[in-house]
Amino acid sequence: MTDARPAAVVVLAAGEGTRMRSATTPKVLHELCGRSMLGHVVSAARELQPEHLVVVVGHAREQVTAHLAAVDPDARAVVQEQQLGTGHAVRVALDTLPGLSGTVLVLPGDAPLLPASTLGDLLTTHALASAATTLLTAEMSDPTGYGRVVRTGGSVAAVVEHKDADDATLSLREVATSVYAFDAEQLVAALGRLTTDNAQGEEYLTDVVGLHRRAGLTVAAHLAEPATDTMGVNDRVQLARARELLRDRILERHQRAGVTVVDPHTTWVDVDVVLEPDVTIHPGSQLHGSTRVAAAAVVGPDTTLHDTEVGTQARVVRSHCLGAVVGAGADVGPYTYLRPGARLGVQTKAGAFVEIKASSIGDRSKVPHLSYVGDAVIGERSNIGAATVFVNYDGVDKHETTVGDDVRVGSDTMLVAPVSVGDGAYTAAGSVITEDVPPGALGVGRSRQRNIEGWVARKRPADQGKQP
Ligand code: UD1
Ligand code: CA
Repeated sequence: MTDARPAAVVVLAAGEGTRMRSATTPKVLHELCGRSMLGHVVSAARELQPEHLVVVVGHAREQVTAHLAAVDPDARAVVQEQQLGTGHAVRVALDTLPGLSGTVLVLPGDAPLLPASTLGDLLTTHALASAATTLLTAEMSDPTGYGRVVRTGGSVAAVVEHKDADDATLSLREVATSVYAFDAEQLVAALGRLTTDNAQGEEYLTDVVGLHRRAGLTVAAHLAEPATDTMGVNDRVQLARARELLRDRILERHQRAGVTVVDPHTTWVDVDVVLEPDVTIHPGSQLHGSTRVAAAAVVGPDTTLHDTEVGTQARVVRSHCLGAVVGAGADVGPYTYLRPGARLGVQTKAGAFVEIKASSIGDRSKVPHLSYVGDAVIGERSNIGAATVFVNYDGVDKHETTVGDDVRVGSDTMLVAPVSVGDGAYTAAGSVITEDVPPGALGVGRSRQRNIEGWVARKRPADQGKQP
């Protein structure tokens, strides 16, 4: 592939994307499977190791440029002040690369499913044919909206936009995908001769094909398969369709590498998620961001993980985890909410109905029922009784709690931070612990019970023996 390495990749992302009907998000920043459309395109382009990676921006340029800097700091944004067409956009990009020679690859910013391997194949075809233009085409069952590829004697003669096509041309199913490899010098020459003499009054990049052909230059084509890899996303119906296709592609990759996905239709795994062999994902689960799940762990049903690490053989059932670390063999859920900074050691337990934030739970410790743990460090082999609350907030500031090893916190204990419970200590059920409990001690922080003999007979004589 080194031979075919492009001198420049130009990604077109200046259009408004009116068909998305969004007041907040430019088209190319819409998300699918953990990345923006532009992020997917730029990442495929980056795999080709171009000398220059240029993204043409226009509408919402600040937003798009900032996003680009975050996803690929080495890519360069070039501003197209007015969206005068795809050909104009490429011209604006090449104006910033004077004297460029070699191959220029043009990609639309709204084709998030394009695999780098297909782009590599296009570049190989282009190099072997010594072509001026090589276009990536696809056979669409419904070619509505796409530019049609017109062939004469088998070779490509022109691309005609849907809005400019007559009925005979509209019946053609081979379409231009907006992905092209060009010889840089021949491209610059043709861009200088584009007109706006068409239905949309724009400078069409597609017209370069006809110009090169009429100039007697070689125009080659590479047919992409499956065609859906090249789909352009113009509205939210197409976005959902693209997301579904990408979801299937991601899940198939994991399944072939040894992951059991019980119900692919209700399972969503972002593109950067790492899953080791023998992981099982049950229905209704969503794994986002930089989540990693180690071998033989079980996730779901109905579990959402964002940027969360799950250790080998751990189980996370019906839970919601953000920026958490779950140790090997740990047992989480059902109905556990792990928030950023929750770190669970090996063979720990958290849940049912437990929330943990910015706290570490030492190996083999348990928080089994209905508790809140915030800003705490818990040692090893300790047990936190049901309905315990780590009272970390005094209304103004947050404070920390330390619980040692082998501690038994009684049910319904309030640990009012800052406070610590020493190794091997106990707290009595129902205690409000406001002072440190020394190692090995029993902390009792509640009023002593007293029984008032005969109280009911004296005070509620009518109630005796009646159901409430
Ligand atoms: C384009 C192609 C069509 C092809 C289809 C594939 C042209 C004229 N048409 O049509 O042949 O079948 O893609 O999906 O090229 N853009 C700019 N500046 C502009 C205009 C557009 O940067 O002045 C960008 C858009 O943001 C978008 C891309 O170019 O990312 C394609 O533009 P779009 O309006 O979506 O073109 P289509 O109508 O889909
Ligand atoms: Ca498009």
